[in-house]
Amino acid sequence: MATILAIETSCDETAVAIVNDRTILSSIVSSQIATHQPYGGVVPEVASRQHVELLNLAIAQALDSAQLTWSAIDGIAATCTPGLVGALLVGVTAAKTLAIVHQKPFLGVHHLEGHIYASYLSSPDLEPPFVCLLVSGGHTSLILVKACGDYETVGQTRDDAAGEAFDKVARLMNLGYPGGPILDRLAKKGNPKAFLLPEGQISLPKGGFHRYDSSFSGLKTAVLRLTQKLQLESPHLPVEDLAASFQATVAKGLTKRAIACALDYGLGTIAVGGGVAANSGLRQHLQAAAAHHNLRVLFPPLEFCTDNAAMIACAAAEHFNQGERSPLTLGVLSRMPIANVKQLYT
Ligand code: KG4
Ligand code: ZN
Repeated sequence: MATILAIETSCDETAVAIVNDRTILSSIVSSQIATHQPYGGVVPEVASRQHVELLNLAIAQALDSAQLTWSAIDGIAATCTPGLVGALLVGVTAAKTLAIVHQKPFLGVHHLEGHIYASYLSSPDLEPPFVCLLVSGGHTSLILVKACGDYETVGQTRDDAAGEAFDKVARLMNLGYPGGPILDRLAKKGNPKAFLLPEGQISLPKGGFHRYDSSFSGLKTAVLRLTQKLQLESPHLPVEDLAASFQATVAKGLTKRAIACALDYGLGTIAVGGGVAANSGLRQHLQAAAAHHNLRVLFPPLEFCTDNAAMIACAAAEHFNQGERSPLTLGVLSRMPIANVKQLYT
């Protein structure tokens, strides 16, 4: 059993959490969404500065809310890749400093492994192997989870990530940032069959389509063209029908690929992670299709789909229990394949 305090600062959430293996003792998430909203997206330098301002308080709150002191903490972890380099650096530097001051082991964590571990928090009985559909603002991947630290990415997006597509489509309709939750809310009041939109598919040289890779840039352009056409016809854009049709197209495409992957690899469980796992359309489509194929599908609670530090602490706890530690010389990286996570530990 390991009690880990983890820091997550890879993008625009300043988060600190304490977990004991797969049990959350506290989880603090301080969102910077309001700061970045006027810019229509995350401004990296602004994010780093906000992390510096918010982090100390978040650490104090995490300890306070868990009613623990440093003596109860076995290890200190921080997300070290992938993400905004300046933002990652704030969390990693804080974690290393605390590790030195309190003489605790330090562990760097891969952000995507954290999203996988969000499913262990809500389903502590979950054990590999299973398929993870990881859909966030930066990634859209189908990952075979074989063991802690042993991952194979079998499907990816060829262009935009699913969350990025939600954000871009919301922006082109002037709806605000982040687009996912806004479109999700509007879609509930719209008709998903109002507009027929193209599901992006990756053609194979010998004919047919890639079973697991996806593409969202064509869909985004189709929504742009449709929006421009509708704006010429009427000043009132049918945003609810557009949101519902777009969301249903994304949900159907992701569902098809996740189910195909689980069936092809003979795996009975699909765990979904990342901000887009909060999407109600994806939840409905995937749950219905999984039931049809007798597959188990796991969605973390909404607060653990988007970025949080509890998932980072949970991943770190398992590495810690396996005797793995990160050197204090570990740096941050804007990108790193999840297949290489073992490189973070000695
Ligand atoms: O995992 P996350 O918090 O950060 C990254 O690691 O990228 O994901 C953020 C992304 C954003 O693109 C946001 O628009 C999207 O997740 N998102 C959603 C929903 N909630 C957040 N997308 C669709 N439906 C939602 N309900
Ligand atoms: Zn994330």
